[in-house]
Amino acid sequence: MWSFLALAVPVLLGSLQAVTAVPTISAVGSKFFYENGTQYYLKGIAYQLTPHDPLVDTAQCKRDIARMSELGANAIRVYHVDASADHKGCMSAFADAGIYLFVDLDTFNTQIEQTDPHWNQTQFDRFKEVLDEFQKFDNTAGVFVGNEVLTTADGSQAAPYVLAAARDIKAYRDEKGYRQIPVGYSAADIADLRPMLQNYLACAGNHSDRLDFYSLNAYEWCGQSSYEQSGYNILQKNATDYPIPIFFSETGCNTPAPRTFHDQSAIFGKKMSGTWSGSIVYEWIEETNDYGLISYGPSVKAAAATNSIIEDGFTRKGTPTPVSPDFGNLKAQWATLHPTGVHLSDYRKVASGITNIKCPASTSGGWAVDPNSPLPTLGQTLSKEAATTMGTSSTDGKATAAGSGASATATKKSSASALTITGTTATERLLAVSMLLSGVVGAVAFWL
Ligand SMILES: *[C@@H]1O[C@H](CO)[C@@H](O)[C@H](O)[C@H]1NC(C)=O
Ligand SMILES: *[C@@H]1O[C@H](CO)[C@@H](O)[C@H](O)[C@H]1NC(C)=O
Ligand SMILES: *[C@@H]1O[C@H](CO)[C@@H](O)[C@H](O)[C@H]1NC(C)=O
Ligand SMILES: *[C@@H]1O[C@H](CO)[C@@H](O)[C@H](O)[C@H]1NC(C)=O
Repeated sequence: MWSFLALAVPVLLGSLQAVTAVPTISAVGSKFFYENGTQYYLKGIAYQLTPHDPLVDTAQCKRDIARMSELGANAIRVYHVDASADHKGCMSAFADAGIYLFVDLDTFNTQIEQTDPHWNQTQFDRFKEVLDEFQKFDNTAGVFVGNEVLTTADGSQAAPYVLAAARDIKAYRDEKGYRQIPVGYSAADIADLRPMLQNYLACAGNHSDRLDFYSLNAYEWCGQSSYEQSGYNILQKNATDYPIPIFFSETGCNTPAPRTFHDQSAIFGKKMSGTWSGSIVYEWIEETNDYGLISYGPSVKAAAATNSIIEDGFTRKGTPTPVSPDFGNLKAQWATLHPTGVHLSDYRKVASGITNIKCPASTSGGWAVDPNSPLPTLGQTLSKEAATTMGTSSTDGKATAAGSGASATATKKSSASALTITGTTATERLLAVSMLLSGVVGAVAFWL
């Protein structure tokens, strides 16, 4: 009897673990589904406590997860990870809470650049390492091949490189026999490129050459606004017949304060939830940009040099304390929003009837991508000649210098700082500034 129990208990535990394993998420048509056919809507949080990798400290993940569950979150977005680190503890703790990961594949020095865009073997190898690591976890729901690569109206020549990265990562995923983890892109909200970029990345007739999902970092809805006033009606109009899932990969304008998150009721409401798959609110930790839902202590600039859990003047570990009233406001919004969407068994027929959308035509001074030109091959760079004929920045000399993005992006209803620096950690901002400077130097040099 005892020996039977000794044998049976581990077997039982083993099978219990199998039973409680988190269901995977897949993209079918323009929607995400759990394995049981229930539609999945993201209620996500941008989670980057530390610049390099927030998914390595299991105890901290667990402290944060308790608060995320209280908030009603079922997704996180992480911008930077260290592929060589051990993520098992955090990932299984998130899985236990029904929280899925959307992770960016690029690291600080492998992102695709808008200026002199290229997609090469070095970048591909680093992207593969992140995928190799995170495909192990059933609660990895999606990967991004880029975040806000295009930041200005004249940046469209970088779009084919984003798509080339997606093509190669999808092919690698399939060649390795990994699960069909959706591969997507997170776009800056640039009015001049909208909806051309969105359509370009999803229009290929061959599904190997298009994204599996598209997402938008949008800060259009600020304070007491509405579906019409915010411009969400136009986002909805332009996404209505979109063939792949689309969602907000960052949202949560913070001017005026406090944030009420009323846009969530639009995103999960009748007008949008048939098209959009939810949103990721920017961001978990309170830091200089003042978007935090959680704080680990007041700003402590002086201590920064000596304390390893403080970076950029903010404590990045410890007991998560809700930032009030924002945390409560988001919690209250999400508590009332439970779209059921459509069941996969009813949707399959619809999905198989989805037709391709038209690739956007190139226009002078606007969308500068020829819909008939082949995607760049691995290692290809944008030739200056091609850039010139397509009427991009190198022809007019002044373009790159003005490329802060502020003038080109749809910032009119949001705080000026929201668009270009959201979604970035301090280190990324430094990088962005140095990129901008080197871009200016490059443009000037080329112009001379
Ligand atoms: C399907 O799975 C999800 C995620 O586990 C769960 O929340 C939902 O209740 C399930 N739906 C049904 C109908 O069982
Ligand atoms: C790829 O581009 C990066 C610069 O972004 C460069 O450092 C690296 O050497 C290139 N790799 C190859 C294989 O050309
Ligand atoms: C789609 O593209 C992939 C990868 O480029 C290629 O292997 C495949 O043959 C293409 N399929 C069709 C139907 O053209
Ligand atoms: C996007 O929406 C705008 C505003 O309603 C409209 O003018 C434009 O034609 C739409 N574009 C597409 C491709 O749907």
